[in-house]
Amino acid sequence: MYDGDIASVLISSQEIQDKIAELADTIAADYGEPKPGEPDLLLVGVLKGAVMFMTDLARHLPLPTQLEFMAISSYGSATSSSGVVRILKDLDRDISGRHVLIVEDIIDSGLTLSWLRKNLESRGPASLQVVTLLRKPEAAKLDVDVSYVGFDIPNEFVVGFGLDYAERYRDLPYIGTLDPSVYA
Ligand code: PRP
Ligand code: MN
Ligand code: MG
Repeated sequence: MYDGDIASVLISSQEIQDKIAELADTIAADYGEPKPGEPDLLLVGVLKGAVMFMTDLARHLPLPTQLEFMAISSYGSATSSSGVVRILKDLDRDISGRHVLIVEDIIDSGLTLSWLRKNLESRGPASLQVVTLLRKPEAAKLDVDVSYVGFDIPNEFVVGFGLDYAERYRDLPYIGTLDPSVYA
């Protein structure tokens, strides 16, 4: 599949799955079982990139979770951030009083998440934390408070496991670097 487009495998499918299991254990230990009468932990996934990570994370978490999605976009089809954040789809319900965990595939410049954190914070959740599978420390333009990070990666353009280039490659089960010939 995608012959010649992937220059190298940065994180294998097995490494991703092991990390998700580890993150799930840490998150479950931090939150604990909901107390009687308390609502379930609410996972807010950021479409579309976070879908693969969110579904695997929810299945690994030994806690009841509810799933909500928001679609915001800062990139379009370019490989670098435009700095413009648009809401494409809002949450379906109120999150006030809920324990909310934002689920992201990657924090690159931090623009998307920093905007989203402020936006959701203003809706009055009981708590608001962030889990991201990937983070690029060298690309950060804004410092965002993130509780759980899967992997810190170099500042290279990566695809797979939800991450796209022009909407392609999200279906790869691993994270790979894209051959420059693809976007040349
Ligand atoms: C990508 C990625 C993160 C965001 C990170 O989403 O999934 O949401 O960019 O970049 P930032 O830290 O520089 O803001 P994108 O806007 O490409 O939409 P997508 O998830 O639908 O691919
Ligand atoms: Mn995204
Ligand atoms: Mg994208």
